[in-house]
Amino acid sequence: MLLTGSDAQEIHRRRTFAIISHPDAGKTTLTEKLLYHGGVIHEAGEVKGKAGTKAATSDWMELERQKGISITSSVMTFDSHGLRINLLDTPGHKDFSEDTYRVLMAVDSACMLIDVAKGVEERTRKLYEVCRYRQIPIFSFINKLDREGKNPLALLDEVETTLKMSCYPLTWPIGIGSRFCGLYHRLKKQIILYNQRREGDEVEVIPVSHYSDPSWKDKVPGGIFDQAVEELDLIEGVLPSLERESFLRGQISPLTWGSAKQNFGVDDFLEFFCQLAPGVQPRRTRDGNLIDPLDQQFTGFVFKIQANMDRRHRDRVAFLRICSGKFERGMKIKHSRHDKEIRLAYSNQFIAAERETVDQAYAGDIVGVNDTGNFAIGDSVGSESRVTFEDIPKFAPELFARLTVSDAMKRKKMQDALVHLSEEGAIQLFVDPVRGPQDPLIGVIGELQFEVLLHRMQDEYNLDVRLHRLPLRVARWPRNAHGQGVSELKGSFTIYRDMIDQPVILLEQEWDLQWAQRENPDITFATSISRTR
Ligand code: G4P
Repeated sequence: MLLTGSDAQEIHRRRTFAIISHPDAGKTTLTEKLLYHGGVIHEAGEVKGKAGTKAATSDWMELERQKGISITSSVMTFDSHGLRINLLDTPGHKDFSEDTYRVLMAVDSACMLIDVAKGVEERTRKLYEVCRYRQIPIFSFINKLDREGKNPLALLDEVETTLKMSCYPLTWPIGIGSRFCGLYHRLKKQIILYNQRREGDEVEVIPVSHYSDPSWKDKVPGGIFDQAVEELDLIEGVLPSLERESFLRGQISPLTWGSAKQNFGVDDFLEFFCQLAPGVQPRRTRDGNLIDPLDQQFTGFVFKIQANMDRRHRDRVAFLRICSGKFERGMKIKHSRHDKEIRLAYSNQFIAAERETVDQAYAGDIVGVNDTGNFAIGDSVGSESRVTFEDIPKFAPELFARLTVSDAMKRKKMQDALVHLSEEGAIQLFVDPVRGPQDPLIGVIGELQFEVLLHRMQDEYNLDVRLHRLPLRVARWPRNAHGQGVSELKGSFTIYRDMIDQPVILLEQEWDLQWAQRENPDITFATSISRTR
């Protein structure tokens, strides 16, 4: 049965997306401006946390602030053009790529933010690949037009080559950097003049019958008109038209330009987003069924877990992406992996650094539910029956260490803390067959994850710990032809166990892996594995 009436309308107006970019491209600034346009915040700086709301944010966000990077991913909700928009933040730093991957599992579209001077950076390239793999429709926003940058045509070419799909520039820049004069709005046929406006200043908009209409020539310094007309002649001549269907299939990316810092071009992006972004998409279950978002049954999956968001309460929040139906606080759900019923009593939605209790939410929304240890990343829930959505994999770590605590009496506490952090996906743990679970090995993808680990051990658990690096570099999960874990290998390989008891080998170098493969030709050495199976 499908929901109808006001419940169905609520689901139809949901749009859930993430902004992804290389660090420093301006994601926080753009987020802030979008929230400003959505009426959620009234001044710059609120996204990073207001004074007085410290309790609602985690202290380890301090580390994030010190390093100027966004480590945590939060969810922000605002209304615009009659839509309810859920914006999921992603960490820009490569060491947290798994976090970003998980967020991309929970959205229906993404906006790729690019710095006009830097173009497509390494990190951006990888993120595009994930979007392409998941066939997520992608918007592109080229930022910092008020700074000197690359030639717009060259940049367009760069983005298209990286995306391996064409872009459709909805706007086009008129000059860049010190000669930045504004944008041409290709759909509305308007010249939007940039005037380094301050808050509240009006923008001057000149309607034109054609971009080469000389009515705006005198409004810009010499040469800029001719250059913009020349560029527009080129793109109008060769670019395909924008079919929404092609965008939704991930075949064309609508592209806009602007300066997030100067709040210029952000309103155009938001307008295009609201016109084009896909609504809540059906989700595939592991047995291949598609669940309609309007399905009366409430279903969802956990894509993120965060412990100690509020240190006073030592709480742990499981972030649920709702896939279908309606969520009501206090409702009972079936937890598929544990095959048991759970009441979702405490639930929150997050706005900037603050959280609010939520009584109702719909497919497309993200709710944070208080968790007493029932949930793991990738868990699925349903109100009427057991549903299991597609997997959220974990990836092979590349750096390994052990942890010791100075006070031997606190060893158990340290072990518990490590398990908490591994459940969050902040680290991975591997059990040595000789030393056992009391002394697990820790694996991470990037250096910064170790730094966060040490910081959180001290800050959240009050543990004075030392990290001992191990010379390991490679982790692989040996699987047989049926995809099952293999616990015996030819050659003398130690078989470790991950936290869901799957066999894994940890090696010092790629060469060892080649040897393992030669000795065991029928075995697949997987670089990623399910988190929950
Ligand atoms: P991130 O979240 O992607 O890491 O980037 P963030 O928004 O923190 O922006 C990184 C820097 O780029 C900031 O400068 C920000 O002000 C600047 N920035 C963002 N958008 C624009 C833009 O459109 N034009 C210009 N000129 N700069 C932009 P900062 O010096 O690190 O901080 P602040 O002192 O400016 O706040």
